[in-house]
Amino acid sequence: MISKKLESMLNEQMKNEFFSAYFYLSMAAWFTSKNLNGFANWYTVQAQEERDHAKMIMDYVLRVGGNAEFLAIEAPDTNFTSPMDIFEKTLAHEQKVTGMINDLMGAAMDERDFKTQHFLQWYVNEQVEEEENASGLIEKLRISNNSEAGILYMDAEAAARVYTPAVQATT
Ligand SMILES: [Fe+2]
Ligand SMILES: [Fe+2]
Repeated sequence: MISKKLESMLNEQMKNEFFSAYFYLSMAAWFTSKNLNGFANWYTVQAQEERDHAKMIMDYVLRVGGNAEFLAIEAPDTNFTSPMDIFEKTLAHEQKVTGMINDLMGAAMDERDFKTQHFLQWYVNEQVEEEENASGLIEKLRISNNSEAGILYMDAEAAARVYTPAVQATT
């Protein structure tokens, strides 16, 4: 069993995770259009992970007897101007998502819904990594003074990122 309130917040978060996937795919498209194929790969993998985050919420809602809802996904703002612009928007977006996860965790705590707290803990941890990754991209590009050489070096590094499906404890 899950409360109507948490069910609806989780469905909202499932949509938000799909939005993240959509947003990161638009960034991948921008990098592809600039021939920065390493970053395009990095953001494509990122989008795949976000879809996993969404699917895991859908599975959880169903397991606890809720209904999975498929809400409309809004169009992302795709006016990107540079790699730094994208990295900064990535960090800002992940900070926003962390706030959403915290709101969800707070609601689960208010209701003493311990299983949902346990489920959400994975997302709390994941957000640490997400913010860390985005900050890392910004910091690294700053070290090179936002230079073209720095961008090309980082692009080559980003080409190595591989998709690994998210693993979460199922109990
Ligand atoms: Fe996510
Ligand atoms: Fe994320």
